[in-house]
Amino acid sequence: MRSLTKAVTFAACMLAGAATAFAAPITIKFSHVVAENTPKGQMALKFKELAESRLPGKVNIEVYPNSQLFGDGKVLEAILLGDVQLAAPSLSKFKKYTKQVQVFDLPFLFKDMAAVDRFQQGPTGQKLLTSLENRGLTGLGYIHNGMKQMSANKPLRTPADAEGLKFRIMTSDVLVSQFEAVDAIPLKKPFSEVFTLMQTKAIDGAENPWSNLYSKKFFEIQDYVTETNHGVLDYMVVTSARFWKGLPADVRPELKKALDEAIAFGNKVAEEKAMSDRQRIIDSNRTTVLQITDAERQQWVEAMKPVWKQFERQIGKDIIDAALQSNN
Ligand code: SIN
Repeated sequence: MRSLTKAVTFAACMLAGAATAFAAPITIKFSHVVAENTPKGQMALKFKELAESRLPGKVNIEVYPNSQLFGDGKVLEAILLGDVQLAAPSLSKFKKYTKQVQVFDLPFLFKDMAAVDRFQQGPTGQKLLTSLENRGLTGLGYIHNGMKQMSANKPLRTPADAEGLKFRIMTSDVLVSQFEAVDAIPLKKPFSEVFTLMQTKAIDGAENPWSNLYSKKFFEIQDYVTETNHGVLDYMVVTSARFWKGLPADVRPELKKALDEAIAFGNKVAEEKAMSDRQRIIDSNRTTVLQITDAERQQWVEAMKPVWKQFERQIGKDIIDAALQSNN
């Protein structure tokens, strides 16, 4: 009897071992909306390279750029449904899931990307990564794109120049208020439609970081880009809390390590592209890049700053103060 039990146990172990050895790799779909030659596009490809080489046979990373699989309007729902496992929407697209992350949209809050980075890596920024947990989403890290610039078919030097113009914006109420503050008309539209909206003159202008202006060729169909640096466009890498917790213990830490390294790589790309794509746009002669004076910039600041107060209760004064502190 004992030898029968031993034999059964042995056979069970062999079967379990074989099952592990031949277990199908875990497929992780990473969906995003930008081109591959952008900070986020490069980060996603780097993550695939690192994760697959460090977890051979255990994970299969599929990257879908350019809204091929989902636009940002649907991707968070798709994560919760298990249709994709990773995405990195712009921080302006989380309003349905957390109000606090709206802090990143406040105009003229961060003086530069170094300040944004200090805030994200500090205690308040790290806490915001968990602000989606009660909605079933886990924030795994931030990735930079860069400071936003305004573009239009006419020169924008002061807020008065924006009056009555239609601007495409992301799905953020803060951005609605930001453009309403200068008597412009904000229109929430998906990123995948921006080029056509510009081309058909359904919108007059938009706000984008240099790498999106360049990689999506927006600069070719907007006559002017004003270097406003008035806000930030960064991303949060998110997954489903259930999926993440359910990963095998030997897979999850390696994946997180690969992701952290891919993010660091993507952030270097962001820094480099903020300069090189800006220069490419200037050199193209397809658009005119305008600099504004300090006095002109101050007019934008004064017009848009009341937006902070408007959203203070939703975001939390402590969070806004912590973001401001990061400028020092
Ligand atoms: C992105 O950079 O992911 C797109 C941002 C946008 O919708 O403007």
